Amino acid sequence: MNAILTDKRYCPYKGIPSMTPDFVHYYLKSLGASSIGQGCVVELGCWLGATTRALLDGLAESQYRLPYHAFDRWLATSDQLPKAEAQGVPLTLHQDLSPLFQKNVSSPFVFMHQGEIGGSLTTTLVVQLRYACSTLRKKILFSRGA
Ligand SMILES: C[S@@+](CC[C@H](N)C(=O)[O-])C[C@H]1O[C@@H](n2cnc3c(N)ncnc32)[C@H](O)[C@@H]1O
Repeated sequence: MNAILTDKRYCPYKGIPSMTPDFVHYYLKSLGASSIGQGCVVELGCWLGATTRALLDGLAESQYRLPYHAFDRWLATSDQLPKAEAQGVPLTLHQDLSPLFQKNVSSPFVFMHQGEIGGSLTTTLVVQLRYACSTLRKKILFSRGA
């Protein structure tokens, strides 16, 4: 039998192939549900969106309505092909995975940052975080003044 099919380290979440076990999805969902509705989510290495979807599902239960920054190169590599196929989604080598991620996640709060983390994406992350923090500060000031 296909070893990946029986490998519990890879469990799809709501039909989205993942490279994480189901307890991680459960944990992310509970983490999101316990959010106090402040701050900024940054996920590095989202692949097809299983972990993103799990965290978003939890966040939807809390008051979180702020940006969710998702980073990945979204380029199918040879090691990813059998993992995705075993979970019911065939990919091709070097396929741009960003449309698939977008479809799987489908949320107005998610901002995708495609590319190599460590290069220009690190700068994007810092800029985006600064923006998120200043927006958050304004919200806090506004609600205190109201
Ligand atoms: C182990 S997978 C995790 C996927 C997802 N969190 C899940 O459990 O389904 C790692 C992901 O990180 C991305 N990744 C790893 N190193 C990266 C880098 N330096 N820059 C951009 N993406 C990277 C890969 O493209 C891949 O999608």
